[in-house]
Amino acid sequence: MEKKLKVGVLGATGMVGQRFISLLENHPWYEVVTVAASPRSAGKTYEEAVGDRWKMTTPMPEAVKKLAVMNVNEVEAVAASVDFVFSAVDMTKDEIKAIEEAYAKTETPVVSNNSAHRWTPDVPMVVPEINPEHFEVIPFQKKRLGTKRGFIAVKPNCSIQSYAPALTAWKEFEPYEVVAATYQAISGAGKTFKDWPEMEGNIIPYIGGEEEKSEQEPLRLWGKVEDGVIVKAQSPVITCQCIRVPVLNGHTAAAFVKFKKKVTKEELIRKLREYKGEPQELNLPSAPGQFIRYLEEDNRPQVTADVDFEHGMGISIGRLREDTVYDYKFVGLSHNTVRGAAGGAVLCAELLTAKGYIQAK
Ligand SMILES: NC(=O)c1ccc[n+]([C@@H]2O[C@H](COP(=O)([O-])OP(=O)(O)OC[C@H]3O[C@@H](n4cnc5c(N)ncnc54)[C@H](OP(=O)(O)O)[C@@H]3O)[C@@H](O)[C@H]2O)c1
Repeated sequence: MEKKLKVGVLGATGMVGQRFISLLENHPWYEVVTVAASPRSAGKTYEEAVGDRWKMTTPMPEAVKKLAVMNVNEVEAVAASVDFVFSAVDMTKDEIKAIEEAYAKTETPVVSNNSAHRWTPDVPMVVPEINPEHFEVIPFQKKRLGTKRGFIAVKPNCSIQSYAPALTAWKEFEPYEVVAATYQAISGAGKTFKDWPEMEGNIIPYIGGEEEKSEQEPLRLWGKVEDGVIVKAQSPVITCQCIRVPVLNGHTAAAFVKFKKKVTKEELIRKLREYKGEPQELNLPSAPGQFIRYLEEDNRPQVTADVDFEHGMGISIGRLREDTVYDYKFVGLSHNTVRGAAGGAVLCAELLTAKGYIQAK
C-alpha cells in the first residue's frame, strides 16, 4: 500500500480500544490518527485520559500518547479526520446502533467489535476465514443507508471462536447437535484482576446475554446471502453454558458434537489442520499462518501455554475423542481480546481493504 489509511478508534480508552491501539502500532496499511472516547475523556491527551487504566502488557505506543482524545458523539468532526473507524464504545445497544449508522452515513466505514448490529439483516458479521462471502450484502446496506462508501461490518462474539471454527472445518460431516460449556476470561468483561479482585480463585456461573449469543451467532456465520440479507442457518442446534473463570485472557470451550455422517478421529484432525481461508490465501498482515492447530498432548490446550498461538489469532483444539453419549468431544481455546475482539476486527478490515470496500477518502 502506497500511503497508509487513516484510522480512528472509537472507545479507544477502553479495554478493547487499547487492544486496537496496540495491534495497530506499526501496522503496514493503517495509521491511528484519531482516538475518541466519552465526553469525560475528550480534550485530554490519550495518555492522560487512559491514566492508570492501561491494561496491555506492552507499553502504550508513543505515536498515540499525545493525540488529543475526541468526543465519540461529535461524529462529523471525528469522521472528517479518518478514512475509516474501528468501534469499541461501551454505550447502550440503541446508542451504539445509532452512532455506528451515523458514522457510516458520513461515508466512513465502521468495523465494529460491538454486538448492536450483529443481527441487522444487511450488516455482515464475519470471521474472515469462515464467511467472507457475507461482505456481499454491503452494497445492499449502502443502498438502505444512502451512502457511496459508508457501511458497517461487525465481528461475532468472543465466546464462539473457541468452537465455531472447528465445527466449520467439519461442516461436510454435518454436525447437527452441539453442547458447549465455555470458561471465559475476565478481560472479556473489560477487567483485570486489579479491578476485579473478587474473581481471584472464584467462578461465576453467569455472563449476561452470553449463552444466547453463543448458541445463535454461529448459525448466522453459517447463514446464506439471500436477496441482500443474511439468512441464518438452521443446523446444528447448539446449547451452551457460559462461565466466568479466574483467567486474564483466553476463552476455553468444552464441546460435544453429533454428526450425521460417520467420520474417524484422524479425519477430523486432518480437516482442522488443513482448514484455511481467504486471509491465508491473500497473506493479510494479521492473518495467522495456521488458523486452527490440533494439539496431541492430553493436557493441552492450556491457557498459559497456548493462548498466544499465532499472536493470539490462531485457534487451538485438543482432547478430541469419541464420546459415550455424543459422537465426539473436544476442547478449544482462543484469545478473547485478540481473535475474539480487536484482532478479529482488524483482520476483517484488512479483508475489506483487500476487496476494495475500504479505501482512502
Ligand atoms: N472486553 C472484551 O473482550 C470484549 C469482547 C467483545 C465485545 N466487547 C464489547 O466491546 C465494547 C467495549 O468493551 P470494553 O471491554 O473495551 O469496555 P470498556 O473498557 O469499559 O471501554 C469502554 C469505552 O467506551 C467509552 N464510553 C463509555 N461510555 C461512553 C459514552 N456514553 N459515550 C461515548 N463513549 C463512551 C469509554 O470512554 P471513557 O474512557 O472516556 O469512559 C471507553 O473508551 C463493549 O460494548 C463490550 O461489550 C468487549
